[in-house]
Amino acid sequence: MFSVSVIGLGYVGLTFAACLANRGFRVYGVESDEEKRKLILEGRPPFYEPGLDSLLSKAISCGSLIVMNDFQSAIQNSYITFVCVGTPSRDDGSVDLSQVESAVREVGRALKKKNGYHLVVLRSTIPPGTTEGLVKKLLEEESSKIAEVEFGLCFNPEFLSEGKAIEGIMKPDKVVIGAVDERSGKLLLEFYREFYSGKLPPILLTNPVNAELIKYANNAFLAMKISFANMFSRLCSKLKGADVAVVMKGIGMDSRICNAFLGAGLGWGGSCFPKDTRGILFYAKKLGVDLKLIRASIEINEEQIEYALELAENLIGGLRDKLIAVLGLAFKPGTDDVRESRAIKLIEKLLEKGARIRAHDPKAMENARRILGDRIEYAGSIEECLSDADLCILATEWPEYRQINSDLLKKYMKSPALLDCRRLYDPNQFRGIRFAAIGLGP
Ligand code: UGA
Repeated sequence: MFSVSVIGLGYVGLTFAACLANRGFRVYGVESDEEKRKLILEGRPPFYEPGLDSLLSKAISCGSLIVMNDFQSAIQNSYITFVCVGTPSRDDGSVDLSQVESAVREVGRALKKKNGYHLVVLRSTIPPGTTEGLVKKLLEEESSKIAEVEFGLCFNPEFLSEGKAIEGIMKPDKVVIGAVDERSGKLLLEFYREFYSGKLPPILLTNPVNAELIKYANNAFLAMKISFANMFSRLCSKLKGADVAVVMKGIGMDSRICNAFLGAGLGWGGSCFPKDTRGILFYAKKLGVDLKLIRASIEINEEQIEYALELAENLIGGLRDKLIAVLGLAFKPGTDDVRESRAIKLIEKLLEKGARIRAHDPKAMENARRILGDRIEYAGSIEECLSDADLCILATEWPEYRQINSDLLKKYMKSPALLDCRRLYDPNQFRGIRFAAIGLGP
């Protein structure tokens, strides 16, 4: 079996490393953050991801995942290196490649001292052209070796989504391999054949620039589908009897459209869609290309918060000094991640309008507190969150919020009113109280 090293034990790197280690690979994980390393060595993931804690503790305790901050030893001991460091957004929307640059330099320095061939695989989302441009150049410079001859290089994007990361790695829809040369591509394919015990998922073998574009286009397309549903949600709001959930269900039954990612709501957040749509827009603009559909998708996404505010105001008649119970803070259910969370964006706007906020989330309260501090109250339970509130807003559709019904709202709230921003509820169940939802006509 191949021995592998994984550089960067963040979200993508750690879940991948834990899965590899549990499939029998010897994995050398390199993480520079001491705090994170300490937690991982204790078998505790630094973030919440269903199923990861047991995989990780098994991998650490049986010694198949070795965690360190030593590139030399990781590269010496492995045959393939996966680079999984972060590529955050800069304020202007461009992609900050500093972590990729320093990780790749370190890999290059380690390669210099290694005898024999080695395969370097980039998994971080990077702008088109980066693998064959910056990455190849840095590796060759630092290692004094020649790509395609003394080492191989691939871009191999990750399509996993938070909350379903393990499934995303173990049973992906596809594996995309962008190889600089035939040998690199064949080797990575061979590695995946081993990883999937011969039962390979559909594979697309191409060049690095196509693979880099596929990653951006994939995320942009999904974001565009959601914005499409949100665009229609506003039209539905104006039409008596209209319901965007039914309209999207109807179009999703067409197999050419498919029903995934047509859920209207507060819009898309998280660490990927916002960053990647801005990233590819910025990049294309530099080349003189205006990606209009992506620009419009971002615009619709931003406007969706204003639309939700309008619904809230109409429902209870002004927001100043009102106590609003917000259910859900994570950017989506199943995670404690609040990066670019629409719920938090909505709360910021509600605060600007003079509302008081009490919020609840099953997992993300601690992370939300780092952003919102004591500007809002935090409730330990749904009932506490609802107590004496003037309006309840469902902002993230955690399954536990399904239990909410008219009786519960009547029992705890000052005057029951519910705004469903994620289309979790059946409007018919709330007939006796003030109820509004994204994309629901009057
Ligand atoms: C996304 C992609 O789905 C993954 O394929 C990709 O690998 C990942 O980005 C990445 O680039 O690393 P993720 O950000 O974890 O994964 O979350 P999603 O499940 O895609 O949700 C993104 C946002 O869209 C969330 O805020 C969610 O609430 C929202 N969403 C999703 C909707 O508003 N409506 C929908 O129908 C679906």
